[in-house]
Amino acid sequence: MSVTIECSIINFMKTKIINIQNNKIDQTTLREAGYILKSGGLVAFPTETVYGLGADALNEEASAKIYAAKGRPSDNPLIVHIAELAALDKITTAVSASALQIAKSYWPGPLTMIFPKSEAVPYGTTGGLDSIAVRMPGSLIARELIKAGGGYIAAPSANTSGRPSPTIAQHVEDDLDGKIEMIIDGGPVEIGVESTILDMTVTPPMILRPGAVTKKMLEDVVGEVTVDIGIMDAESTQAPKAPGMKYRHYAPKAKLCIVEGAERDVVEKINQLAREKQAQGYRVGIIGTEETVGKYEDGFIKSIGTRADENTIAAHLYSVLRAFDKEEIDYIYSESFIQDGIGSAIMNRLLKAAGYHIVKV
Ligand code: TXA
Ligand code: MG
Repeated sequence: MSVTIECSIINFMKTKIINIQNNKIDQTTLREAGYILKSGGLVAFPTETVYGLGADALNEEASAKIYAAKGRPSDNPLIVHIAELAALDKITTAVSASALQIAKSYWPGPLTMIFPKSEAVPYGTTGGLDSIAVRMPGSLIARELIKAGGGYIAAPSANTSGRPSPTIAQHVEDDLDGKIEMIIDGGPVEIGVESTILDMTVTPPMILRPGAVTKKMLEDVVGEVTVDIGIMDAESTQAPKAPGMKYRHYAPKAKLCIVEGAERDVVEKINQLAREKQAQGYRVGIIGTEETVGKYEDGFIKSIGTRADENTIAAHLYSVLRAFDKEEIDYIYSESFIQDGIGSAIMNRLLKAAGYHIVKV
């Protein structure tokens, strides 16, 4: 008689955490991480946008492990990361002259482009799609790791599906410890929101997710660029074109409400809403800015950055949402930001986290 023993221990592994100083990765770490990736394992690593969870993109079983570790729906395709332009040939079938121009301007950097995929890429990596999302990250650690791992590394954000993306290694550890082979800790990321996604399979190219490479920056290089109307607001009847944008991503545990209007009115309204909820016994978090934090009265008050430099706001967005989760906050009230430049990416993530709940004063 044969007996099959299901052993849950197989799913638990010791996650090795390696600290990188001054953006320099040593050869021993590179070799070890490269070996893990080439043998089908998972390595989380810093990029300039958010931490990524890497696996060999050309190995269907390795990609499957990403979905399992994150609890990610299988129809949500992965971004394939490359370290040099020549790598595009193997994984795509058509790269237009405009795409090459954009690559020349913004790669390496926080931009992902979508192309028709070649047969070398398994459907397990593209969520069953005939297209492939490709990015060449700006982070040097990321590019060295991609090369060490064979040149084609699928990497979604290294968070549990539905949680805010990780911007420090501790966030990755909080979500994925025991589920992946290695975490490379390169300190806080530079940008803090995920890459811009640009669909190059349509003319004119279409932005499917706003990021640090803005519409204006793209139009400066190739002329007209459109934006997927499916990502604009809650009322849109059209589904977002990037499968991942339809999920309630970036979600804090608390109910988040954005308050929009002139600064004085916003502060007054948030103080009033916070008072009401606290009187009912709830734990309240407030997202203010350097310019306003001193004006809030009570609750867990956090400055997300300064309006004088909105990049600071992008950089702190996810860690503030995670901090509120840790404090078991029930209601979060946030100021609103102008949807221009990096502000488009900030508001896109904030609105999604809020389920598009916005109060105008
Ligand atoms: O900055 C980033 O892009 C980070 C770092 C790690 O590089 N990665 C990242 O990956 O944000 P992820 O998996 O969290 O988001 C990928 C998004 C999803 O919304 C997915 O649906 C979309 O890209 N995507 C991937 N392939 C696609 C395709 N072929 N067509 C349309 N959307 C695609
Ligand atoms: Mg993600």
